[in-house]
Amino acid sequence: MKTACSLVLLTVIVLFVDVLTHPTVETFDSEKSVAKEVSNDKKDIYEFGVKIGSLKETDETEEKKSYKGYQLWKLNLDSQNKSKVVITLKNNNVLSTWGGNRTSIDVLISRPNLRTVQRRLDENLINYKVLIDDVQEAIDDENPPLNPEEDEELANRQGHRMTFDSYHRLSDIHGFLDYLAVTYPTYCKVYVIGSSVQGRPLKVLRISNGNSGNKAVWVDGGMHAREWITPASVSYIINHMAHNYDSETHAIRSLDWYFLPVANPDGYEYAHTTDRLWRKNRARGGYCTGTDLNRNYGYRWGGAGGGKNPCQETYAGTGPFSEPETAAIKDFLQRTSQQWRASISYHSYGQYILYPWGYDRKVPPDWTDLQKVAEQAATAMRQATGQYYTVGAAANTLYPASGGSDDWAKGTMKMKYTYTIELRDNGRYGFVLPASYIVPTAKEALAALRVIGEAAAAT
Ligand code: ARG
Ligand code: ZN
Repeated sequence: MKTACSLVLLTVIVLFVDVLTHPTVETFDSEKSVAKEVSNDKKDIYEFGVKIGSLKETDETEEKKSYKGYQLWKLNLDSQNKSKVVITLKNNNVLSTWGGNRTSIDVLISRPNLRTVQRRLDENLINYKVLIDDVQEAIDDENPPLNPEEDEELANRQGHRMTFDSYHRLSDIHGFLDYLAVTYPTYCKVYVIGSSVQGRPLKVLRISNGNSGNKAVWVDGGMHAREWITPASVSYIINHMAHNYDSETHAIRSLDWYFLPVANPDGYEYAHTTDRLWRKNRARGGYCTGTDLNRNYGYRWGGAGGGKNPCQETYAGTGPFSEPETAAIKDFLQRTSQQWRASISYHSYGQYILYPWGYDRKVPPDWTDLQKVAEQAATAMRQATGQYYTVGAAANTLYPASGGSDDWAKGTMKMKYTYTIELRDNGRYGFVLPASYIVPTAKEALAALRVIGEAAAAT
């Protein structure tokens, strides 16, 4: 074990030194299956043409992970005993879990493990169905590549490269926020509230009429790297609100809106370049990488559902706000001393509107208000696109998980209307939701946000 670790460390150092001593870095563009050269300058980070930093380390040397032959199965869990069987399989790394609630769970299984899992399920009378029979194929079909000329032309014509028919890289999303701030300077403003483990900026867009004394709403997406629909939906919402600001209701315009589309920029980029199904941030611990940012918040940190082992998908970190991403959000929210009234954290998937608590199967004293507004939001979502969203307290509806952003927003920041909204879908595609679903999903997300905003304004 020790030798293996030092070997890995040595390789990392050698590769890193290699990067430093060569003028260009080779990256592999799987789309076109050709190696292309990327200038080392790509690691520098610019704000309005001024270099504000550079990436501290890079994952570029890692080979892209293939999910060829992996399958996604939906399992019916109608007893404690059946859940235990799945937990054991998960702990033995025979499968990994995706979305789940109290009665069913979606699990990802690699090809060599399919038969083992099938046998164990049959033995325990667990019913299942195959949702995706080759996850890599789903990944390949999910995000149609942009035509480079069209993309270039679009960028020149519009001043940004954002669209809502494909999932964009971080630089496009950040470029879009900058573009809006330049285009609508009276009510759009960009804040860099901190940076990620690898030095990427955490960019927030504020949309506000600038009146003092406004109540404020916090909105984030992309806390989990693989939930690509969430940065896309938050970008769509921002786009819509910025372009149609004057036609929003008085209540919506009376609020200061703060949007962080990509709360986990390193993970998001890593999910694009290397591992499509990455969830955590990219903090290098000892032998495993990444902390689950939605287990790292400080309210009741370290309780149920937060992993103690750095190799777990739900690793909670070394302490509350141990990660620069969550610490930056916390500092910003506390520093701005706004009258925070609501917080919406977009995740995927499963189609839920969840309110605290997440750490335990309990509800806050004003839960009937939260329930009522969530039901109104669900109705608005259904009216927008016909999709059904389930409403409930997080731990009761899904599973107890402490250290979530929602519990902290409610418990520490005292924001009344605090929600985690799990966007589409129900497991047909799971995290690998085709880009053609961005617009309808984002319309729902916007419909819910308006309802929550109205409630926040009325507090
Ligand atoms: N899917 C989300 C997660 O696992 C749900 C979070 C709900 N909130 C909570 N505090 N547990 O992170
Ligand atoms: Zn999530």
